[in-house]
Amino acid sequence: MYSADEIQIIINNKFKSLIFDGEPIELYAPISYTLGIGGKRIRPNLLLMACDMFGGNVELASDTAIGLELFHNFTLIHDDIMDNAPLRRGKDTVYKKWNSNIAILSGDTMFALAYKQVIKTKTPYLQKILEAFTKTAIEVCEGQQLDLNFESLNGISIKEYLEMIRLKTAVLIGASLKIGAIIAGANDNDTANIYKFGENIGLAFQLKDDFLDAFGDENKFGKKTGGDIVSNKKTYLYLKAYEIADEQLRKVLSDYYKNSFDNINQQQKIDAVKAIYIQTKVNNHIEKEMNAYYQQAINYINKISLPDSKKEIIINFSNTLMNRDI
Ligand code: IPE
Ligand code: IPE
Ligand code: MG
Ligand code: MG
Ligand code: MG
Repeated sequence: MYSADEIQIIINNKFKSLIFDGEPIELYAPISYTLGIGGKRIRPNLLLMACDMFGGNVELASDTAIGLELFHNFTLIHDDIMDNAPLRRGKDTVYKKWNSNIAILSGDTMFALAYKQVIKTKTPYLQKILEAFTKTAIEVCEGQQLDLNFESLNGISIKEYLEMIRLKTAVLIGASLKIGAIIAGANDNDTANIYKFGENIGLAFQLKDDFLDAFGDENKFGKKTGGDIVSNKKTYLYLKAYEIADEQLRKVLSDYYKNSFDNINQQQKIDAVKAIYIQTKVNNHIEKEMNAYYQQAINYINKISLPDSKKEIIINFSNTLMNRDI
């Protein structure tokens, strides 16, 4: 089996071998820029780790792995327009550096390039892979739309929030692992269990992302702190704080989240909402919730018909995701 470092090297080398330039330059420069500023490359890592765990050919799977990373990067370029986000991976977002039209079109191109990369894979399972990938791509868009809808809706429940993040984030983590398993020819039961493992890790991952958006160190996390608060995102932090708060505090919180307050000084709004998060100790709840999803994930990976030693690399990698500050 490959070590985590070796898998990372395979991904890096594969990216180096691919050139994403072309004309018109305005279309391709943002693609090279986005891929050049990196990111954690979680999805291709998981895909190749799952493929390796089930005894598949990692080199052969690497085109699909890159395809999923291209898809992920496309979603980020469009997400930053939707979220008005100025910073990503510590650099200007594409729509800020160029403009929204360029970000839309270069994102669209990346989505097509993602398919181009996936279908390069020489495998008898291409149909299955494309079905899983396409289903996931549609679900991600559904999740993103719910995320936007929730900005201006009140009374969103934590259950609705969890379904939203399952769609926008968790399904892609699950699908990365599942597609790795498919390429390796894993059986349906194991493939379903590695998907459920990933889905639960993905839920915990997005909970952590929400936490870091409010409390992370901007220099490490690479995104502008407080962005979710400014956009009135119904994150777990917000919904749990609202649930815990007394009537008076609830009013303060929901008043800050009303559109009519958009013009107040943004930093003042961020500081005030974060103070309520601290007062209501929502970080304890988020940690508990993350641990529960992590445990659920472990239950699923335990069901897979392989010795524990084969599962270690994926479990260790998932642990680093839970404890990250980037
Ligand atoms: C960011 O994903 C979007 C979410 C689903 C939270 P990552 O945290 O994996 O972003 P990069 O690719 O490492 O920048
Ligand atoms: C985005 O969730 C998920 C997708 C891009 C599909 P967020 O909006 O929380 O991601 P970040 O925080 O901007 O990376
Ligand atoms: Mg965003
Ligand atoms: Mg978003
Ligand atoms: Mg976020």
